[in-house]
Amino acid sequence: MNFIDLPQRAGARGAVRLPGSKSISNRALLLAALASGSTELQNVLESDDTKRMVDALKALGVSTMPIGGNALRVEGVGANGSGGGVFPTGEADLFLGNAGTAFRTLTAVLAFSGGHYRLRGVPRMHERPIGDLVDVLRFLGANITFEGNAGYPPLSIAPRSRVDARAVRVRGDVSSQFLSGLLIALPLIGGGVSVEVEGELVSKPYVDLTLIMMARFGVEVARDGWRRFTVPDGAVYRSPGTFLVEGDASSASYFLAAGAIGGGPVRVEGVGKNSIQGDVGFADALREMDAVVDAGDDWVEATAPPDGLKGIRLDCNSIPDAAMTLAVVALFARGETRLDNIASWRVKETDRIAAMANELEKFGARVVEGDDFLAITPPEIFRFPPEGVDTYDDHRIAMCFSLASFAGLVRINDPSCVAKTFPDYFACFARVAEPFPVVAIDGPSASGKGTVAARAAAKLGWAYLDSGALYRLTALAALRAGIRFSDEERVAALAAALDVTFGEDSILLSGEEVGEAIRDEAISSGASEVAALPSVREALLFRQRAFRCAPGLVADGRDMASVVFPDAQCKVFLTASVYARARRRYKQLIEKGISVKIDTLLHDMEERDARDSKRSAAPLRQSEGARFLDTTELSIEEAVDRILDWSGVENSKCAKE
Ligand code: DC
Repeated sequence: MNFIDLPQRAGARGAVRLPGSKSISNRALLLAALASGSTELQNVLESDDTKRMVDALKALGVSTMPIGGNALRVEGVGANGSGGGVFPTGEADLFLGNAGTAFRTLTAVLAFSGGHYRLRGVPRMHERPIGDLVDVLRFLGANITFEGNAGYPPLSIAPRSRVDARAVRVRGDVSSQFLSGLLIALPLIGGGVSVEVEGELVSKPYVDLTLIMMARFGVEVARDGWRRFTVPDGAVYRSPGTFLVEGDASSASYFLAAGAIGGGPVRVEGVGKNSIQGDVGFADALREMDAVVDAGDDWVEATAPPDGLKGIRLDCNSIPDAAMTLAVVALFARGETRLDNIASWRVKETDRIAAMANELEKFGARVVEGDDFLAITPPEIFRFPPEGVDTYDDHRIAMCFSLASFAGLVRINDPSCVAKTFPDYFACFARVAEPFPVVAIDGPSASGKGTVAARAAAKLGWAYLDSGALYRLTALAALRAGIRFSDEERVAALAAALDVTFGEDSILLSGEEVGEAIRDEAISSGASEVAALPSVREALLFRQRAFRCAPGLVADGRDMASVVFPDAQCKVFLTASVYARARRRYKQLIEKGISVKIDTLLHDMEERDARDSKRSAAPLRQSEGARFLDTTELSIEEAVDRILDWSGVENSKCAKE
């Protein structure tokens, strides 16, 4: 399973320059392709969805040239309203992935372009309805065939038959993209058509966006409320020369929410109060939840309220995408948050109402799900699911659940789905929402790292993770359950389900004190064996990362810096000569009244060192960026002081012992 673990955040602060809007980028690409003249599109989003549109345009014979930065030059074909021969290649088989906007708008445009085309997508795209759009296009003479189930993609399109219709009706209550696609396509048949919307129009701001952009490309649509839209007779698209794509307002929602939950201020740059995107309305929703929100021409900023966020009830018709972010913000708000009028969520990348309800419940929230609403009551006690948040190949689910990391460790499964609209989302999120710091100390057995790490943690007032104890506990649990140390599957299952409580001076395994028992030499050897099993290491990963909490963590082990906390602020490789280590262990055991031979200890230690450093799964070695600390000649206090110095935490901030 592919996942990303997002550690608990210490807070959020800073500024993010947003990638270009997906909705604007895809509309701009298509309009520029249809217009007469060449258009320089600036700040175009680079993502899976926009790549689908660019690839489709290329397959249609439209020239799109990258010209540096995120700019593209598109040579328009000059669609002239004759309804035929619009694109240089009159035939194309287009694969559009799960890009809804690209699919709906291209269906309408190609229906009036006079050629032979196929449009298909991923299996989910073939479950997203398009029948209402096809009906109205057919009414206008389009020749479209459903290749699979009636009403759904894939589609094949043949040249249109001439029909003289001046007024048509389209359903508005399934997807606003039907209306947007139709309006964009009408100039291709010469305009002069008025469109009446049946049912309540969903996602109105997206239609507004379409109208504003058509106007920028020379076609003014007359609008009578949200009921009737008329594309004038003889309308043709003309290039505006250059067109700047605004930052993505839906993507902005995650960062504004981070500011509202994590302290702030967090500023997003690239959208502002005059934005043409409906999702800027998300800022108003945050304000209703008591967040402090400010905006300028090219920025919006959110800060957490002094008394925390409060739950709200909101009609989300105009912010369908950003409203998903509110569902996760609700985990941090007082009382219930109810999101109404979100039926369109059911036909998006996945059934978003069902998916969000499932995933929110994993955190302990109480969720009531209706046909067109979601009501969320935050958890009394947060749970953090080790199995992770499932993302359903839906970029927005992956992004909005990153916000749960303000409460604790969050695992996001299949995180690469964010590439649909925001390929480097997690890196951007980490820049404004920093996790709690970690000092990662690795080294061989008996190097003294345990004692040094525990003391450093106490001095800093931070949490302490003795990761070796988890491997020892696994070995002890296996021994007690009669499972062979080499039985990878069963030992890993045990490791995943260990019932452990770490106290100040105690370690309880299923309620029984085992602090002494896990230090036994047989368990030391067993721990080294089970630690070589990749599934055991994987099973213990989430548990180890969950130790990272306020105000920080000191962790010791073999792979703290390389695998468990690769982003640790301070990494130390702590060692001592094998003789010094054998002598230290000998002294410990003699003091406990256990008689051993120093030669045996030396031999065992060399053997264990070899196994820990030669195994293929996370072998012990000084990782990149780790500082080397040889304690052969150092006292414990000297070693601790060296680490505190390297940790970057000022001495005055260290806790008194
Ligand atoms: O640090 P320790 O001696 O308590 O560790 C016990 C065993 O677990 C040792 O053989 C190395 C292994 N271990 C590991 O592989 N990875 C860690 N992070 C910690 C310990």
